Amino acid sequence: MSAVTFPEGFLWGGALAANQSEGSYLAGGKGLTTVDMIPHGEHRMPVKLGLEPRYSLQDEEYYPSHDAIDFYRRYKDDIALMAEMGFTVFRTSIAWSRIYPNGDELTPNPNGIAFYRSLFEECQKYGITPLVTLCHFDVPMHLVTEYGSWRNRKMIEFFTRYARTCFEAFNGLVKYWLTFNEINILLHSPFSGAGLVFGPEDNHEQVKYQAAHHELVASAQVTKIAHEINSENQVGCMLAGGNFYPWSCNPEDVWAALEKDRENLFFIDVQARGAYPSYAARVFREKGIEIEWQPGDAEILRHTVDFVSFSYYASRCASADMNEKNSSAANVVKSLTNPHIPRSAWGWGIDPLGLRITMNMMYDRYQKPLFLVENGLGARDEIEANGEIHDDYRISYLRQHIQAMGEAIADGIPVIGYTTWGCIDLVAASTGEMSKRYGFVYVDRDDHGKGTLARTRKKSFWWYKKVIASNGQDLTD
Ligand code: BG6
Repeated sequence: MSAVTFPEGFLWGGALAANQSEGSYLAGGKGLTTVDMIPHGEHRMPVKLGLEPRYSLQDEEYYPSHDAIDFYRRYKDDIALMAEMGFTVFRTSIAWSRIYPNGDELTPNPNGIAFYRSLFEECQKYGITPLVTLCHFDVPMHLVTEYGSWRNRKMIEFFTRYARTCFEAFNGLVKYWLTFNEINILLHSPFSGAGLVFGPEDNHEQVKYQAAHHELVASAQVTKIAHEINSENQVGCMLAGGNFYPWSCNPEDVWAALEKDRENLFFIDVQARGAYPSYAARVFREKGIEIEWQPGDAEILRHTVDFVSFSYYASRCASADMNEKNSSAANVVKSLTNPHIPRSAWGWGIDPLGLRITMNMMYDRYQKPLFLVENGLGARDEIEANGEIHDDYRISYLRQHIQAMGEAIADGIPVIGYTTWGCIDLVAASTGEMSKRYGFVYVDRDDHGKGTLARTRKKSFWWYKKVIASNGQDLTD
């Protein structure tokens, strides 16, 4: 059925993040992180946005990350399921606060290192290549309360120490690294993205872009260190991707879409090209932002990434008169609702051609190999009387996106691999729900933390196994 050919050695797999899967939020000496403070329910959004401070846990609130899907204790069985599907790559993240519980210690926590060593060895046992994110929405809380998180330049030192520890401890076990998950989400969800909490006096834009500068310097610095420790290491940046379409061909709308794209691509422009883009100076001036640089920053930023990774769920849409009322924030980034594409039950657009468009734009711009490290459909699954789960809607979404990725490869773009998001059901980052499911494997747990946590293979499990076995040639049911 597929007209496209995937290169030999193309990596096929799935992705999780520590904060949405591991649970055991204090086990082995782990410290509290930002995500551990984000409750389910009405306070979730204001806390995520950094508008409602949450420095201590509240008895009456439910925090989905605390137990999540218990991957911390079940990882061996879960990796075995991924191996059964034929995964050749598995993306997860290291919880910074398992390695450095407070974040500012001088020596790491041996329990944290032992846990991840065992996890990566488990992958190795099945010939699965780990793809590891150093920071996926989980800054140690002590760094938030003591230092103000990434608004403080000292974070560069803490993150560098943490990253170096990981590169040394897992040298030879992990080759593919990502520095910050969806680094541009710092702008759209500042507390979950970067541990930022705003006070009444803060100029939000100033705080966010200064924090961004610190993250960008830290990212470049650790890229350099990763290469020094092992020249085989491959380090990527990670964008919450999806091009903005202009609402119309009115030049005003076209310009608005270009500006919106630049807002997100600014980060990757720095990480992939090694310097602030030419448009940044004017944007900062007009927003009243003054970035504090230190001597040597420009030199550090020249250490660019080896590949560009990104998540893609849907395209976005912008117009010159876009405002709070006419836009909505599916996957956090504000967008107009595009009437030409269907939507998921959570209102997220479904636009496979948008993936091909996004990939072409990114390769034209960066000329570095791409890695699609998140893609998938969040949907409600029903269990049939016989215990089966027929998630044909998920198969259909993934099939169309794999085809679009194949077209982008045929367009001449080098692509390292593909990891679907939430290969096993996990906690949704935006809403904290379990009922918004992405997995090939169902996890028996509800939005309030009830359920046996038992794992069940869905129809898509068998389908993806066949896709991988045929290297993307057989996409049929
Ligand atoms: C990405 C994140 O933004 O989208 C993931 O990197 C997240 O952490 C995923 O889970 C899907 O979003 P959600 O809100 O449906 O979980």
